Amino acid sequence: MTILVTGATGNVGRHVVNELIQAGQRVRALSRNPAKANLPEGVEVVYGDLSAPETLEPVLQGITGIHLITFDGGKGFAPLTTGPEIVQLAIKAGVRRVTVLWNGEKGPMEQAIEASSLEWTHLHPVEYMSNALGWADSIRNEGVVREPFGHTLSAMIHEADIASVAATALIEEGHAGKSYILTGPEVLTVPEKVHAISSVINREIRFVELTRQQARERMHQSGIQNEVINFVIEWHDNPPEYGYTVLPTVEQVTGRKPRKFAQWVEEHIGDFS
Ligand SMILES: NC(=O)c1ccc[n+]([C@@H]2O[C@H](COP(=O)([O-])OP(=O)(O)OC[C@H]3O[C@@H](n4cnc5c(N)ncnc54)[C@H](OP(=O)(O)O)[C@@H]3O)[C@@H](O)[C@H]2O)c1
Repeated sequence: MTILVTGATGNVGRHVVNELIQAGQRVRALSRNPAKANLPEGVEVVYGDLSAPETLEPVLQGITGIHLITFDGGKGFAPLTTGPEIVQLAIKAGVRRVTVLWNGEKGPMEQAIEASSLEWTHLHPVEYMSNALGWADSIRNEGVVREPFGHTLSAMIHEADIASVAATALIEEGHAGKSYILTGPEVLTVPEKVHAISSVINREIRFVELTRQQARERMHQSGIQNEVINFVIEWHDNPPEYGYTVLPTVEQVTGRKPRKFAQWVEEHIGDFS
């Protein structure tokens, strides 16, 4: 039995690979650039591009379970349009079980999976803790965080906890047909997150709240599409309740309490100092 991890070099996928290896599973990791994947020994790293399904046929040989990302890798997380072909190839290859990482909406991949014979589990994490890495440069260089939406509450989650749920759902029975909203163990505002980083790296960090217009301009300058900018602004102005409500799902599925933000910061001290 071999499990294929897509997005294996990404924020969540690296942890999915580690969790599966620790659980004694055989792992094949997909990357468009295997030479740069930098994954642990024992992982079979293979070339493949989810937006070019013909590259996946050899990759899927001998695979029984897949952890799937559902965006095409371009700017703005456009949903993969090749989902239906990927699902067909997976079924043909004998894949039985998949975990699917939420991409903000139910795209062609999710629809094809739900209509198929695959045992699927949808993973719907709220904000990743790793989004705080976007502050690393300004913290290191200026001791400042500039962000809009200081008041917005977030039950953000450690990527390793998303991965832990994914690995459990891929290995164990009982998770088919379930959609899990995944949160961390606490709800924090932006200034509270900044304070947590400041305490761990033992350096004062100023929080400067940007206006919506400044936030729009900054996202626009970094190449983000208008519809994504609108989505982000709307999300922060009217966050859905699940974005700021701590849920017991991670512990219920994995038997372990989700990690706190302070632990995530400890693991990333080098990025901030
Ligand atoms: N950030 C958040 O707060 C948040 C919250 C909820 C959901 N999400 C969702 O989580 C997902 C991951 O987001 P992220 O920012 O953390 O990204 P990420 O994991 O850093 O994404 C990059 C990964 O995707 C792989 N990839 C991209 N396009 C690919 C393609 N065409 N074929 C094969 N592999 C491809 C890359 O592999 P290679 O480069 O090695 O090929 C890399 O492993 C997105 O769907 C996002 O909407 C994010």
